[in-house]
Amino acid sequence: MLHRSALALAAALLTAAPAFAQKPTDLSARIAQLADQQQAQVIAWRRDIHEHPELGNQETRTAALVAAHLRKLGLEVQTGVGRTGVVALLKGGKPGPVVALRADMDALPVTEAAGLPFASKVRTQYNGQAVGVMHACGHDTHVAMLLGAAEVLSQMKKDLPGTVKFIFQPAEEGSLPGQEGGARLMVKEGVLENPKVDAVFGVHIQAQTEVGQLSYRPGGEMASSDVFTIKVKGKSAHGAYPWLAVDPVVTAAQIILGLQTVVSRQAQLTEDAVVLTVGMVHGGVRNNIIPEEVELTGTIRCLNKDMQQKVWAGVRRTAQGIAESAGATAEVDITNYAPITFNDPRLTQQMVPSLERAAGPANVRVQKAVTGAEDFAFYQEKVPGMFVFVGGMPKGKDSATTAPHHTAGFFIDESGLTLGVRTLATLALDYLSSK
Ligand code: NI
Repeated sequence: MLHRSALALAAALLTAAPAFAQKPTDLSARIAQLADQQQAQVIAWRRDIHEHPELGNQETRTAALVAAHLRKLGLEVQTGVGRTGVVALLKGGKPGPVVALRADMDALPVTEAAGLPFASKVRTQYNGQAVGVMHACGHDTHVAMLLGAAEVLSQMKKDLPGTVKFIFQPAEEGSLPGQEGGARLMVKEGVLENPKVDAVFGVHIQAQTEVGQLSYRPGGEMASSDVFTIKVKGKSAHGAYPWLAVDPVVTAAQIILGLQTVVSRQAQLTEDAVVLTVGMVHGGVRNNIIPEEVELTGTIRCLNKDMQQKVWAGVRRTAQGIAESAGATAEVDITNYAPITFNDPRLTQQMVPSLERAAGPANVRVQKAVTGAEDFAFYQEKVPGMFVFVGGMPKGKDSATTAPHHTAGFFIDESGLTLGVRTLATLALDYLSSK
């Protein structure tokens, strides 16, 4: 009897053990196994999307492919969000918070030159020019990896303590002038509500980082992108009689140089980087006429909000002060195009072990800030979020000689995609389980 009851107890313990041990090791192993099983399918999706790239706000074929698969998984699917976006809900078997995973779907006006068998042959008119269309930033891989993660998490539905919201977003690279789109529009249309999202995660493939590696930066990871326009207004006169003019050309030249001191003399660069670039100078029609007005346009990149506010104030003060010293005026307009891609420090600290579990601790590193912008920042403005880079460079290659993002030779080693799937699924599961 004793013997039997001891056996029964042992058996009971054994059957209870898996449920007990399911956090986090068993479920991690399950994610790894399911992600591996998905590999061929994820690559097939990626190639299909790569061969049929669509520019921002035109991602109808991609959206249809995404929606069809998510419906097949039995998810609640909403289409036409933020124009062509797709949003799907996976409700887990247990109650809990809501975590969002996001992928962007748009391609770029770049003519592909990498010579792949599934290279894009799509051509279009862009800004009045005939050009190819190419997934030259790897958003095709983002769609494929998030579809893979949806598949993995769906198969673990009963174990999920909460809800996963999948966001397939259009137009990350920007919309045509005057057109709204991207993350900003999706947020405006309520993508973070109903149900309310508690945290958001996204990944970006990285063509200069070896396959198998993950990287992130706590705080400002990618820069805000602001556009400034300065109208320098003076007084026109014959070029031979400058004393009759208030010369906006010379004043604009002084302002261009003065603006550089906003960065070099006024920003505490030991804290974070700042970039200020004047990209356009327009004024004048003829060599011997001093024009009435010169217009300067440029971009400002910052990695923390305080510095951004100071740079904005510095640009205004410098432009207006220099103009005033010349007897001219400067009208300054600064518009924010994308906020800072800001990884919530607490959330980041909490989730680093998940990255280490997905990639192995030796393959996770803190990276330098990027002065490019990413519209994932619009979600992070509303809810805590984290954006992670996934390696896509073939092992052994030199990052200095691989084609950069947004160029015709851009190339991704597809063997890196499984780690992206694993990372997305692990972040979602671990976040839900932590609440
Ligand atoms: Ni991108």
